[in-house]
Amino acid sequence: MSQSPATTEVLREEFTAAMAGAVNGVAVLATDGPWGRVGITVSSVSSVSAEPPLILVCVNRKSRAHAALCENGVFSVNLLTVDQKDLAQAFGGQSSSRQAYEFLVGEWIFGLSGAPVLADAVATFACVLEQAHDAGSHTIFVGRVTEVSAGSGDPLLYTARAYGRPLRWTTHPDARSRRNTRRRPTAARTLRTPRRGGRVAGGSQ
Ligand SMILES: Cc1cc2nc3c(=O)[nH]c(=O)nc-3n(C[C@H](O)[C@H](O)[C@H](O)COP(=O)(O)O)c2cc1C
Repeated sequence: MSQSPATTEVLREEFTAAMAGAVNGVAVLATDGPWGRVGITVSSVSSVSAEPPLILVCVNRKSRAHAALCENGVFSVNLLTVDQKDLAQAFGGQSSSRQAYEFLVGEWIFGLSGAPVLADAVATFACVLEQAHDAGSHTIFVGRVTEVSAGSGDPLLYTARAYGRPLRWTTHPDARSRRNTRRRPTAARTLRTPRRGGRVAGGSQ
């Protein structure tokens, strides 16, 4: 049984209001290649698999990043720190400045190939686009991770339509040892993206 437009609108509003209760990390997805260089703020990042390392991100089909991702076939996911809220706002369309589109906000590392990688992020993942699944207004992009780099700083959170920071009650021993081995991403590491995936079947534009 199909729902009336009014019912659909009420359900959509209830859905978005309820989902505002979720707590998510914030990332900037960046891509570069034949389509051009684009960045977009996303909170829909999730780990899919460690063997092989796969990551997913949901991107609205109307955004410029969607077309760019399908065409470029490579992207990076850069998890933001609490000190990088200005990047979240700039790449999330919450800033009047257009500087985000020129990657003038934040310190970006540009290699000869692949997507730009953000310096001083909590973590960065360089990916080759492997799958694209249509899902409502968005496409679920699955990337195969080719490079990982861990930075420093606490992760920026987004909940109740506001940014926040984690309040730790306990510290896992692994977290302490990870802090001691953190590396800053280097230009050399970004140059080793193995191949461009090109256009992906199933990626809608
Ligand atoms: C905290 C935050 C999280 C967001 N998460 C997503 C997301 O997961 N997927 C998405 O498509 N857009 C997401 N957006 C919206 C896009 O960042 C925004 O629509 C985009 O910058 C607009 O790009 P455009 O100029 O190409 O339309 C998010 C925005 C913010 C501020």
